[in-house]
Amino acid sequence: MSTKRIIETHREIRAVLDRLARSCDLPEVCAILGDLGSLLPPHFADEERSDGFFARVVSENPNLDSRVCSLQRQHTDITADVASLESDVRDYLERAVARFFARRDALVELLRAHEDAENSLVMDAFLTDLGGSE
Ligand SMILES: [Fe+2]
Repeated sequence: MSTKRIIETHREIRAVLDRLARSCDLPEVCAILGDLGSLLPPHFADEERSDGFFARVVSENPNLDSRVCSLQRQHTDITADVASLESDVRDYLERAVARFFARRDALVELLRAHEDAENSLVMDAFLTDLGGSE
């Protein structure tokens, strides 16, 4: 991968990160994390290839080896963090949606029963009134 391509991909990743940082919509956050999860592994793999960006940097600048090693170690942690965060958001959304629909169903059932009971009350009161006026 050329240095130009590396820089372009870094811009692309930065744009995705800006979207991620701005979003307060959890389904969108989940989708953005998915985008990041697709974008990062091939990018990191390219940087780490034996003839890739890191190897070229160290080959031409051996004094930068420790910086390259440190950045390369971060790749594993970052990849795991993105996957973990996406999984957590997805689980949270699934649980929240399930909880919401369970509460909705309970509310519908309660309110139906409530209105039925009131209708029954009206009928009993009405029939009692009719019975009492005869
Ligand atoms: Fe990179």
